[in-house]
Amino acid sequence: MDRFTLFSGTANVNLATAIGRELRVGLGACTVNRFPDGEVSVDIGEAVRGYEVFIVQPTCPPVNDHLMELLAMADACRRASAERIIAVVPYFGYARSDKRHGRREPIMASMVALVAQTVGIDHLVTIDLHAAQIEGFFQNAVDILSAVPIICNAIRDRLPPGTVVVSPDEGRVKMAAQYAQRLKTSVIVIHKHRETGSEVHSLRVVGDVQERPCLIVDDMISTGSTIASSVDALLRAGARGEIFIAATHGLLLPGSREKLDHPAIRNVFVTDTVPVEGETPPRLSVITVAPLLAEVIRNIHL
Ligand code: R5P
Repeated sequence: MDRFTLFSGTANVNLATAIGRELRVGLGACTVNRFPDGEVSVDIGEAVRGYEVFIVQPTCPPVNDHLMELLAMADACRRASAERIIAVVPYFGYARSDKRHGRREPIMASMVALVAQTVGIDHLVTIDLHAAQIEGFFQNAVDILSAVPIICNAIRDRLPPGTVVVSPDEGRVKMAAQYAQRLKTSVIVIHKHRETGSEVHSLRVVGDVQERPCLIVDDMISTGSTIASSVDALLRAGARGEIFIAATHGLLLPGSREKLDHPAIRNVFVTDTVPVEGETPPRLSVITVAPLLAEVIRNIHL
C-alpha cells in the first residue's frame, strides 16, 4: 500500500498486528514509553511526511493513559507532516458520558472529540459506539462500524432453537433488533435502573421469556453488573436456565468474571476490540474484528 503506515499504541498490539496481517503490512516503528512521573513519551521511528497514517488504539482501561498515547502519537505525526491521520479506536472510552445528567457535569465524549481534532485526527473509525450521536461531536469524518454481523455469524449455530434476543436496557434496543433480524427471532427488553457506576437493578422484563433460552446483547461488559442483574431478572420471569451473552467490548473489569460465572450462563461472546487479559473465564469466546477493520482501512486508503 502506497504512502501508508499502520501504527499501534500499546492498548491492543495483538489486534493491530492481526489487522496488519490482513493487509500484508508490518506495524510502523513507534516507541511508547512512560517518564518516571507517568508522563507519556512517544517516538515515531520513521518518516510519515505526505503519508496516510492509521493509528490503532482502543481507549480501554487505563483509559486516560491510552487516550493520551493516541493524542501524542497523532500530534507527533501531524508535526512530522503526515498527509492524513486516521484514528482506529475500536473501543471509544468515555462514550457513556454523552450528555449531562446533572447541571454541573462535563460531557466527556464531546471533550475527547474536541481534543482529538485539535491534535490533528482527521478521521475516526470505531465499532459499536455506545451512543451513535457522539459522531456529532466531531466535525471530521467518523465511521461507526458494527460487530453485530460478525458476532451473529460466529454464534448462530451455537444457540438453541427458540432463543430470544434480550436488550438489557432501553439503550440497546436498536442493537438487539439488529441481532434479532439476523438470527430470525424476537426482541425482549429489560427496564434497567443504574444506581451507581457498578450497581444496577433490572426492574422489569417486557415480553414473554417463559421457558425460552435467551441471548443478552450489549455494547460492553464492564463491571458485569448489567449482565448479572439481567440474568436474575430473566430467570425470575421464567426464562430457561440457558442464557448466552454477546457483547462487542469485553472490558471485563476486576470482579466481572465472577459475575459471569453463573450456572445459567452457557457462553459469553466478546470481540477483540479490547484485549481479553488474564485468566479467561470459562465458556468465554473471543471473536476477531481484525478482518472488518482491515477492509475498512483498505477502503479509506483507496
Ligand atoms: C450501559 O448503558 C451500557 O450499554 C452497558 O450496559 C454497561 O455499560 C455495562 O456496564 P456494566 O458491565 O458495568 O454493567
